Amino acid sequence: MKFFIDTANVDDIKKAYDLGVISGVTTNPSLIAKEGKNFNEVINQITSIVNGPISGEIKATTDKTEDILNEARKISAIHPNMVVKIPMTKNGLKAVSILSKEGIKTNVTLIFTPIQALLAASAGANYVSPFIGRLDDISNNGMKLVSDIVSIFNVYNINSKIIAASIRNPIHVLECAKIGCDIVTVPYKVICQLIKHPLTDEGIKKFKDDYLKSINN
Ligand code: E4P
Repeated sequence: MKFFIDTANVDDIKKAYDLGVISGVTTNPSLIAKEGKNFNEVINQITSIVNGPISGEIKATTDKTEDILNEARKISAIHPNMVVKIPMTKNGLKAVSILSKEGIKTNVTLIFTPIQALLAASAGANYVSPFIGRLDDISNNGMKLVSDIVSIFNVYNINSKIIAASIRNPIHVLECAKIGCDIVTVPYKVICQLIKHPLTDEGIKKFKDDYLKSINN
């Protein structure tokens, strides 16, 4: 399973990328807005840090197929690593199907049912993004969604990669790894939680104390 980082914060992306475990980035309009910079500025900075797929989403106000296509072509032209993130709508699917024939990579986002994922893959999406946390938030089972998509894609040998998104905690990441999800896109805070364990910290402290005692004897 690959790890992507889910943020538009350039400092966090740099810190996570330097760990050597991150192979891609996902952003969305809310994450970009949080940074108070414009889309191109943030995306250009990210492309200079990470050498891997970078998802940049079309504007939240772009909904006609023709407009999605125009914007997608511009996003894709920013850098060869760009993947155009497009919400799961009828017009979005039409655009994905045309873009896939042009060789433009797409990530269909806001996936909340397995069949939405299957339709996105059928239209030619390179990536599909099921949202775990937002389903859990409404007392649904986000992990069940991802595991159903993994099973269906395995049955039909579907090549679209599954990016488990809306990750809220280390358990989501563990469960995704166990079921064979292709990618998890993880906020920086959760990446830090994945690294830490109280027994690791305690062990380091004990080794340090014992080492210092031994050299002072
Ligand atoms: C996916 O690519 C989205 O950017 C993201 O994972 C959404 O997460 P949220 O539900 O925490 O906003």
